[in-house]
Amino acid sequence: MYSSFSSTFEEDYELSSPYKSLHDNYVPNKQRSSGVKTLLLATGCLIILGGLLAIALLEEMKNEEKINNAVNQSTACQPEPHAEQCDHVNECRVVLVESIPLWMDYGSNATFGVPTYKAWKDLLSTAAEQIEIASFYWSLTGEDIGVKSSTDQFGRDILEQLKALPARNVSVRAVSSFPSVATKSTDLEVLRANGVQVRRINFGKLTRGILHSKFWIVDRKHIYIGSANMDWRALTQVKELGVVIYNCTSLATDLHKIFQSYWVMGHSNATIPIPWPPFYDTSINKEQPLHVNLSDVQSKVYISNSPPAFCPESRTKDLDAIMSVVSQAEQFIHVAVMEYFPASKFYYHHRYWPVIENALIRSVFERNVTVRLLVSCGRDSDSAVLPFLKSLSALNSASYSMRIEVKLYIVPLGNETNIPYTRVNHNKYMVTESMAYVGTSNWSADYFNTTAGVGLVISQDVSHSPSPGDTLVGQLSAVFERDWDSEFAVPLEKLGHNPDCAFSAA
Ligand SMILES: *[C@@H]1O[C@H](CO)[C@@H](O)[C@H](O)[C@H]1NC(C)=O
Ligand SMILES: *[C@@H]1O[C@H](CO)[C@@H](O)[C@H](O)[C@H]1NC(C)=O
Ligand SMILES: *[C@@H]1O[C@H](CO)[C@@H](O)[C@H](O)[C@H]1NC(C)=O
Ligand SMILES: *[C@@H]1O[C@H](CO)[C@@H](O)[C@H](O)[C@H]1NC(C)=O
Ligand SMILES: *[C@@H]1O[C@H](CO)[C@@H](O)[C@H](O)[C@H]1NC(C)=O
Ligand SMILES: *[C@@H]1O[C@H](CO)[C@@H](O)[C@H](O)[C@H]1NC(C)=O
Ligand SMILES: *[C@@H]1O[C@H](CO)[C@@H](O)[C@H](O)[C@H]1NC(C)=O
Ligand SMILES: *[C@@H]1O[C@H](CO)[C@@H](O)[C@H](O)[C@H]1NC(C)=O
Ligand SMILES: *[C@@H]1O[C@H](CO)[C@@H](O)[C@H](O)[C@H]1NC(C)=O
Ligand SMILES: *[C@@H]1O[C@H](CO)[C@@H](O)[C@H](O)[C@H]1NC(C)=O
Repeated sequence: MYSSFSSTFEEDYELSSPYKSLHDNYVPNKQRSSGVKTLLLATGCLIILGGLLAIALLEEMKNEEKINNAVNQSTACQPEPHAEQCDHVNECRVVLVESIPLWMDYGSNATFGVPTYKAWKDLLSTAAEQIEIASFYWSLTGEDIGVKSSTDQFGRDILEQLKALPARNVSVRAVSSFPSVATKSTDLEVLRANGVQVRRINFGKLTRGILHSKFWIVDRKHIYIGSANMDWRALTQVKELGVVIYNCTSLATDLHKIFQSYWVMGHSNATIPIPWPPFYDTSINKEQPLHVNLSDVQSKVYISNSPPAFCPESRTKDLDAIMSVVSQAEQFIHVAVMEYFPASKFYYHHRYWPVIENALIRSVFERNVTVRLLVSCGRDSDSAVLPFLKSLSALNSASYSMRIEVKLYIVPLGNETNIPYTRVNHNKYMVTESMAYVGTSNWSADYFNTTAGVGLVISQDVSHSPSPGDTLVGQLSAVFERDWDSEFAVPLEKLGHNPDCAFSAA
């Protein structure tokens, strides 16, 4: 009886499983629309039949080679209790990746991460089997945004290389957001014509947000997470920061679960499953980070996710990750974000949201932690944040031992006046004396409520490391200090008139 039930279940699942569409583009048809419903039903059954059906589900998943691979790999390395084992399975290498806009002069002694363009080229040439990419939008050529500029050369090159991958038998899957900002872009059509599988995920309909994540997964082994969209400006005109981790199957497999959650939502009638099927569960989170050596430095790592509707119980929410890093800081919290805004701005318009702000102030006041906030200001920045920044800055007081400073990072426009939405610091990271958080979200309410984004949290014992400069946390800290001390970081009270920063008119 049990076996006949489970085989019926398997058949249903087989017919309508969203995993089935793993290898093709979405073709609207009725069968697929029933997929999620069946999945929901199946998930309901799962609760009743518990382990038995879970086994059936696993059996079914075994038929799906790629999924099987993913499951296999994710169990290859267990966090915490088997840490030593883990280290052998996973000797990962980490690289800090940056884009510094053209014509910015930091002086001769400044050090930088590996250029994003170089890191991406390297990932592309490494790829042997598959690449999965999530990006808010795609605009790798000047034409995509109606601009003529020779500085789109790197973007064109990346597009050409991506186009060539399917012919090399490397499968490429790409997700981007619907609604999107790059309405004229032809990149995804071009890629599709060359065999790349493409889906636009309607986060507008799903969560009233957007897909704002930016990450790559290569051969389920190497990952990029950072602020850079698939945009030529992200390689030459916008300041970006991210991380590439090589040879890290456990993390890549974990990030793939998030990619896959977007992919299965790439149908016009898709609805978010409640709860998410067991495939999306993770064993790597805030409570149980992955113990792994990153470039020979013992580290604890996990990936956080947003919005909450895309997080199974076991996945740490992006906001919780940020709050956790803030609350664990003992000496300093250095934050560099494109936009900081203690409110919601989009769908849930104009709601005050002092969640992160309170945590920062509490750290300063209760734990004597030094906070530095480096917020981006460009031509298109919204000056409505200015009163909030001033209020934070006003708390800074040597006599009362409250150390909280705010600076604006301004990328000089130079002669690049005709390129829209450019010449800004697009970074979204935070570093403390022992932890690094590299994310894809602005720090405002929407990004943790409705918008899709990911964060990478790395914890390292920097103070006991023989050379802190070899740790990712140490490197990120140095990058922050480089920027904070640079001529491009302007204290609020010294802003004066700066045509490259929209706040100076306010
Ligand atoms: C989506 O739902 C609408 C309305 O229920 C239906 O007309 C349409 O055929 C469905 N599309 C797909 C791809 O199933
Ligand atoms: C799964 O892991 C086992 C043991 O680690 C290995 O022998 C097997 O080849 C793996 N299967 C796949 C499909 O990777
Ligand atoms: C991980 O790093 C630690 C400290 O650097 C080192 O002692 C250990 O041997 C490394 N583990 C592996 C598997 O390389
Ligand atoms: C650059 O570094 C060298 C060696 O550390 C030092 O002598 C020199 O003064 C530095 N130059 C600047 C401009 O900071
Ligand atoms: C790609 O795979 C197909 C089928 O497996 C094979 O015939 C072809 O030679 C491969 N092409 C390359 C460039 O590896
Ligand atoms: C990944 O590990 C393999 C085997 O240890 C090594 O040969 C390769 O160079 C590593 N790749 C990168 C990008 O570090
Ligand atoms: C977050 O989303 C919920 C609906 O899911 C909404 O009620 C709430 O107001 C939103 N919060 C903010 C701060 O935007
Ligand atoms: C707070 O930290 C600063 C250095 O960061 C230190 O000089 C000061 O004594 C500390 N104050 C208290 C009350 O611990
Ligand atoms: C912009 O300025 C830089 C240096 O300031 C110069 O090298 C470059 O040629 C200029 N570009 C244009 C289009 O004028
Ligand atoms: C957040 O960042 C994006 C780019 O990543 C930017 O376009 C947007 O205006 C920023 N601000 C808000 C509140 O979303």
